[in-house]
Amino acid sequence: MAIRAILRMGDPRLLEAAKPVADPTAPAIRELIADMFDTMAAAGGVGLAAPQIGVGLQVVIFGFEMSERYPHAEPVPPTILLNPVITPLAEDEESGWEGCLSVPGLRGEVPRFTRIRYRGVDEGGKAIDRAVEGFHARVVQHECDHLLGVLYPMRMRDMSRFGFTDVLFPELAGSADIGAR
Ligand code: NI
Repeated sequence: MAIRAILRMGDPRLLEAAKPVADPTAPAIRELIADMFDTMAAAGGVGLAAPQIGVGLQVVIFGFEMSERYPHAEPVPPTILLNPVITPLAEDEESGWEGCLSVPGLRGEVPRFTRIRYRGVDEGGKAIDRAVEGFHARVVQHECDHLLGVLYPMRMRDMSRFGFTDVLFPELAGSADIGAR
């Protein structure tokens, strides 16, 4: 287990599509997931995708009880999700503020589907199939975008709603690495 360096926007590896995991139970995948949890905890994030530590595989982790980075967000169950597929459950979108550990110090308002279904497998190869909404749906869409090589600023429609976290949200200043999920 180890804390790995998080790639930052500008690194071409963040723009590549990730490959499916052939064997979710392989020891190398278990190690990758452990490193991702260590790295996410050290950065104070609420989610992390494998490409953010330079591994081009379809693995995301997310979840939190309480986040200093998102103090008003409802909890999201700790989840390890491999080979995810997202289906919107309605056309509705809502805009909300996002950050990203690969885009440190910044936040932007991003439109996302309000309700989605997501499917995939966990680290034991067991199926995950959930219908979710709100911040949970936002986190999943953000993390799974990393597997497509998409960073949240690429989803923004109004660049006037993009700025430095400590300027936009002075009350968050001083929390661990403000700037990203
Ligand atoms: Ni991110």
